[in-house]
Amino acid sequence: MNDNTAVISEIKRLLGDRQRLAYVRSFGCQLNVSDGEKIKGLLRKMGFGFTDDESEADLIMLNTCAVRENAEDRVFGIVGSMKKLKEQRPELMIGIAGCMTAQSHIAEKIKKSYPQVDFVLGTSAINGLPKLLLECLRGARFSADIAEYDDFSATAEQVRESTFKASVPIMFGCNNFCTYCIVPYVRGRERSRRPEDIISEVEGLVRDGYKEIMLLGQNVNSYGNDLGGEMSFPKLLRRLNEIEGDFWIRFMSSHPKDASAGLIDAIFDCEKVAKHLHLPVQSGSDDVLRRMNRRYTAEKYFGIVDEIRRRDPDFSLTTDIIVGFPDETNEDFEATLDIMERVRYDNIYSFIYSKRTGTKAAEMPDGVPEEEKGQRMRRLLALQRDISTEHYKRFIGKRMRVLADDVSKKREGFLAGKSSEFIIVEFEGDSSLIGQFVEVEVTGAMNWAVTGEIVK
Ligand code: 5AD
Ligand code: SF4
Repeated sequence: MNDNTAVISEIKRLLGDRQRLAYVRSFGCQLNVSDGEKIKGLLRKMGFGFTDDESEADLIMLNTCAVRENAEDRVFGIVGSMKKLKEQRPELMIGIAGCMTAQSHIAEKIKKSYPQVDFVLGTSAINGLPKLLLECLRGARFSADIAEYDDFSATAEQVRESTFKASVPIMFGCNNFCTYCIVPYVRGRERSRRPEDIISEVEGLVRDGYKEIMLLGQNVNSYGNDLGGEMSFPKLLRRLNEIEGDFWIRFMSSHPKDASAGLIDAIFDCEKVAKHLHLPVQSGSDDVLRRMNRRYTAEKYFGIVDEIRRRDPDFSLTTDIIVGFPDETNEDFEATLDIMERVRYDNIYSFIYSKRTGTKAAEMPDGVPEEEKGQRMRRLLALQRDISTEHYKRFIGKRMRVLADDVSKKREGFLAGKSSEFIIVEFEGDSSLIGQFVEVEVTGAMNWAVTGEIVK
């Protein structure tokens, strides 16, 4: 890990006394948001304050996502619109970070077609930010640090978005190479953080009053595989569960091929682990799953679901689904609807397949018209709406533990929170409860949330 002390003091000298403001915006998954918090941590060290208004910023940093094309298009649109800002204020610095920059064709495109951008920063090169800013302040027109992994992000200081919910990455990268996915190319191979670093970070967060700890990794179930067998994810859960304090533990994501009996045991043994598992299925068709290189079948997946439901019929499951994988047939799609009916997810996150340059699936022929993919998506969403409404009813008359998140955007005097089951709960309450746990008795179910009344 390189030491930035000298670079940071030089930047402070060049920036002078006036308070400089940075606008930092993260796109995509929670790991990226967590990287954004680390970028802010470094900027704070350099003396920056923060703003949500790009027109008053001295530095704009977009922390990008590459998982689907529409996320990339959005960023290109925003960068395009920044040309004007840069013309008006040539001293404005603009940097692009995140997964987009880790693709060489994108880094080239930015360099060639977006002269308003001063630098790009790779996902594992966050620690190179001070060096890039210094070059920029000294007048470099374009500089790039997309160096290989230094894992600075393992222990970095951060400026957290929330005072009661914290993300804690436990590993970086992915080894699975699902054929549609760009992540292994832009985030590299799996690297697990040292358990003692994770444990002390969580202890610190709990001491600071954080109520929700979200453990993050592309596939948390393979946590520790690179640590010589001393630690596994279930062991880590058990260890974190021993930390004293009133908080709960969530984690994301879990690959079904590695969802072991040990994992399920740990979830049910650890009272601080929330009653929810996000288990991305992607498709219900064995043929599509094989072509996606997911390395499980629908039956194997049901095996995990059945075991969880056997232990707790109310346990909550959510999933990710890709619609319109190359050459997905109607029968393949029907198999996905079947799996949804059979599992009865509380919520799904569904995406139309997006071709990613450099992945295996990008080479597969695809005869399914976009219009057909859109129709399939609408059918799937309609089905899930029915399932959610019906399935949420199981909670009516029962109590849920809820972490109050915010005031309700829909109803005056109401708060919105998430239950242990990761279900949105709306209830009457005072804003002083935000950031606290409450017990809510469920009185009604809608297709996106349940309503209830505070009982404690
Ligand atoms: N197209 C559409 N969805 C994708 N995902 C990952 N790659 C793609 C892609 N190329 C989805 C998967 C994954 C989630 C985070 O994003 O469902 O689980
Ligand atoms: Fe992508 Fe598959 Fe890795 Fe998830 S497990 S990040 S979908 S390659």
